[in-house]
Amino acid sequence: MHWRFGGGRAAESKRRLIFALDVDSIVEAEALIDELLPEVGLFKVGKQLFLHAGPVIVRRIKERGGEVFLDLKFHDIPRTVAKAGIEAARLGVKMFDVHASGSDEMMRVTVGEVRRACRREALRRPKILAVTVLTSLSRDDLKRVGIMAGIESQVVRLARLAKESGMDGVVASPHEIATIRKECGRTFAIVTPGVRPARAGWDDQKRVMTPEAAIRAGADYLVVGKPIRDAKSPAEAARAIVAEMERGFGGLAARSAAGRT
Ligand code: C5P
Repeated sequence: MHWRFGGGRAAESKRRLIFALDVDSIVEAEALIDELLPEVGLFKVGKQLFLHAGPVIVRRIKERGGEVFLDLKFHDIPRTVAKAGIEAARLGVKMFDVHASGSDEMMRVTVGEVRRACRREALRRPKILAVTVLTSLSRDDLKRVGIMAGIESQVVRLARLAKESGMDGVVASPHEIATIRKECGRTFAIVTPGVRPARAGWDDQKRVMTPEAAIRAGADYLVVGKPIRDAKSPAEAARAIVAEMERGFGGLAARSAAGRT
């Protein structure tokens, strides 16, 4: 992981906080974008908002100076996913994701075609992330679709496959961070949902971790939705999360200064 201390820990933590813009109204989305632009690094646009508002929502975020993680989790034949990825790059998103289970060929073709299109059209190349095993799946769910491996070994298998296919990183639950970091190295990006601030009621996210713990475990980016969106002051909630990330960051710096990373 490449922490850039130049802008200071607070700036670096903020850059790495992704707010999940999971709403079904453009008006609500725009209010949240305006309030949170100074507080977070990226806005995650998922299937709900994208299907409600269309690509225009990505353009609105970009026009205001924000960055976008387009979380549409593509899974299709290689050529189709590659073409979708090129459109994501044309929209100017900073990251988008695909399902690693779509195959190494699907990932390789997508990385290659997106890279070529970005060179040809002088576009910024988005980070392309792989989803390994959805956090909603249990071992029995995997069995019923014919995957006999345990969750952790399936996650590691798919993370390695993603890395070998040229992907920039993975979306991974907090408890998978350390293993993936060990298996895939320091330069492989790990984007982690399932993060809950230290004192919040831990509701529908079963496998959760605090921002500080997730950063210490080796996450590069944290995705947080509900605890910010449902707060009385979303901006304040985001600032509190950034402060917790900074503490995790401080722990990491102390660890590497002591030569233990
Ligand atoms: O729960 P919260 O609103 O913080 O979730 C933020 C994002 O994390 C959601 O958009 C969802 O895509 C993702 N998520 C996940 N696994 C879960 C729950 C949420 O990946 N178990």
